[in-house]
Amino acid sequence: MTLKEINIRYKEYGSIGELPEDDRKLALEAVKATENSYSPYSGFHVGAALRLSNGKTVCGSNQENIAYPSGLCAERTAMFHASHSYPDAAIEAIAIAASQNGKICEEPASPCGACRQVMAEYQTRSGHDMRIILAGTGKVLVFEKVDDILPFIFDSLK
Ligand code: THU
Repeated sequence: MTLKEINIRYKEYGSIGELPEDDRKLALEAVKATENSYSPYSGFHVGAALRLSNGKTVCGSNQENIAYPSGLCAERTAMFHASHSYPDAAIEAIAIAASQNGKICEEPASPCGACRQVMAEYQTRSGHDMRIILAGTGKVLVFEKVDDILPFIFDSLK
């Protein structure tokens, strides 16, 4: 038996304002996208903004349903929209923000496992690292690629 360890490197900023310009703009788009969330059941409004290699920005928000599993997270809403509209463009970065009771959350929202798997798929498809920006008002976390938030990615079919 060998005991192994994985180290994950990420950057932590004190606020959205401290981010480099491109990331800051994307994080603010994610904040804006929370306003179009349809989340009457959870009251948790999530926004996602994608920076594509063709220069476009694509946004999404969580869309809920009275039959709970029929809804979709903000991240996948945005990624599926981007893949449909611009199938040849890489997703260079994704920013995520959330709000509750009319205020952007202090603590950054972290993508669920299903969204991480979908991020992994598009990162592999494009061959381009996908930067992940988790934006809160109290702190912002930046990861360079999906592998950093999803170690041991399922890719056995490749
Ligand atoms: N949600 C997202 O949209 N993204 C995440 O990263 C976590 C959770 C949504 C799903 C549901 O509409 C609500 O937040 C509460 O779980």
